[in-house]
Amino acid sequence: MTFLSATLDRVKPSPTVALTGQVAALKAQGKDIIGLGAGEPDFDTPQNIKDAGVVAIALGKTKYTPVDGIPELKQAIVDKFKRDNGLDYTPAQVSVGTGGKQILYNALMATLNEGDEVVIPAPYWVSYPDMVLLAGGTPVIAEASLQTGFKLTADQLESAITDKTKWLIFNSPSNPTGAGYTREELKEITDVLMRHPHVWVMSDDMYEHLVYDDFEFTTPAKIEPRLYDRTLTVNGVSKAYAMTGWRIGYAAGPEALIKAMRKVQSQSTSNPCSISQYAAVEALNGTQDFIAPNNEIFKRRRDLVVEMLNAAAGIACPVPDGAFYVYPSIAGCIGKTSAGGAKIENDEDFCTALLEETGVAVVFGAAFGLSPNFRVSYATSDEALKEACTRIQTFCAGLT
Ligand SMILES: Cc1ncc(COP(=O)(O)O)c(C=O)c1O
Repeated sequence: MTFLSATLDRVKPSPTVALTGQVAALKAQGKDIIGLGAGEPDFDTPQNIKDAGVVAIALGKTKYTPVDGIPELKQAIVDKFKRDNGLDYTPAQVSVGTGGKQILYNALMATLNEGDEVVIPAPYWVSYPDMVLLAGGTPVIAEASLQTGFKLTADQLESAITDKTKWLIFNSPSNPTGAGYTREELKEITDVLMRHPHVWVMSDDMYEHLVYDDFEFTTPAKIEPRLYDRTLTVNGVSKAYAMTGWRIGYAAGPEALIKAMRKVQSQSTSNPCSISQYAAVEALNGTQDFIAPNNEIFKRRRDLVVEMLNAAAGIACPVPDGAFYVYPSIAGCIGKTSAGGAKIENDEDFCTALLEETGVAVVFGAAFGLSPNFRVSYATSDEALKEACTRIQTFCAGLT
């Protein structure tokens, strides 16, 4: 009899978290490493939000709270959905958890039975398939392509759906590609869902506020109001408010589902951090003025990275609509040998050789379900990005 659960054999640790650890270890050894793997803004949490956390501590808001969120935060979330998305929810339809990650996990734990399928468009955020597996379900990967801007087409979704499908996990703008669905593209997706009344949609809107140029964010329950009763709209404060460490995520959806998610949370972690909840109230209710200037910075960095990567031999980098990632193709580098003698047979080989030979850390595409690519997070300084892209250009120029 083995001591560890068989469930764990089905899942793998997060490759992005692993890379962050690897980068920290190499830096600690004194190596000159530029880490472009982190999925978090390099900005500090805005002062008004930090102050709200400090005030919460001073006022002794340091005890257990209701399991899935304090009433003030639930109301702030209801108001946010109305204000930003034109969606009407009541506080009883809202769940607050320890990050969007816990919210997604709770929803899967609360709904999946053995054999239930969850359609996940690839490239996907690394955690979706493993969370589905942990919850006892079966991930069904529907591969989008570079040709459609990494977006799933209606036909691809249609052919991924079976009578066992319970959920579609939808993520726009996307981690890892930054691709965002336009209203028309999303309508095509929701039209497919309308033909399959047993399929629900979990919309991961984590990067809602991080959009550039004229891209207009939208979400399934808004595009297709008839899907409201089978949509869980997930969001959080981590990315737009630079609050990754505070760990607050939330969702709104049908009351019965929210209640089931509360049950999962009540027997696992109980409430998310009380202090963070008060800070999140300020994030959602307070000034949103810093989002636009932050986005200006992100857009400048995106343009810098896209231009420099497209100038590298063998790399093709599309321009994303949002988030802080680019997902270039390295099809033109496969089959070559690096200056250091490494044979590049796939994107993992490319990223390993890049790290070893130049000190630039990026995440290989296979981790996100679509190869040969890699993911760059441009949530770091312009100087670091320029230096990293120059090293990537030199690395690519040395491939023979
Ligand atoms: C697409 C996506 N969803 C959800 C999350 C979870 O964010 P958090 O748990 O910090 O709210 C992330 C974080 O990287 C993400 O990229």
